[in-house]
Amino acid sequence: MRLFLDTANLAHIRHGVELGVVTGVTTNPSLVSKEGKVDYKALVKEICAIVPGPVSTEVLSLESGGMVAEAREIVTWAENIAVKIPATAEGLKATSALSRDRIPVNMTLCFSLNQAILAAEAGAAYVSPFVGRLDDIGEDGMRLVVDIVDYLSYYNLPTQVIAASIRHSAHCLSAAKAGAHIATIPYGVLLQMFEHPLTDIGVRRFAEDWNKVMGSGGILPTQ
Ligand code: E4P
Repeated sequence: MRLFLDTANLAHIRHGVELGVVTGVTTNPSLVSKEGKVDYKALVKEICAIVPGPVSTEVLSLESGGMVAEAREIVTWAENIAVKIPATAEGLKATSALSRDRIPVNMTLCFSLNQAILAAEAGAAYVSPFVGRLDDIGEDGMRLVVDIVDYLSYYNLPTQVIAASIRHSAHCLSAAKAGAHIATIPYGVLLQMFEHPLTDIGVRRFAEDWNKVMGSGGILPTQ
């Protein structure tokens, strides 16, 4: 499973890419707003220059004509952009039109298998089931990821599943077990995935044992 960062924060994106594990980014209007009153185009271009893979950039229009026009503009900003379009009827119409022109669409705000079936049928490159938001209303968000992955693989369809609205590292684990192609995760969850108290205790104990006998110089000769 590949990992994308779900943020528009440049420092967090740089760190994720430096770690060598973040290959894409997903943004949305709420995440961009968290960065203050920014120049949307300039910010997206900067993110695209940092990240090796797709950067999902959301349209703001609510009707298909406006979505298509915005998408055609957004994809001129960089080569690694996927246009994020909501799973509405208007969004579906826009996705069908854009996919015919080979513009990669990430169909977002997906809350049902029916929406995912239609997204795949319309030619979306990605579909993003929102796990945490379904959990928030008492549904089983990860069940939806499992169902979409099963559906797409049963019919051998090329649409990739981005497990989205990830709230904690256990969600990541479940998304990987479900066979999601990608999980898009907040920066805090990326850090959480890597933490284990026994690793910290182990590192400290190795250093103490070594230093007791060898001194604290490390393995390189001191100058
Ligand atoms: C995905 O692409 C969305 O940006 C995101 O995962 C939404 O998550 P939230 O429910 O934490 O806002």
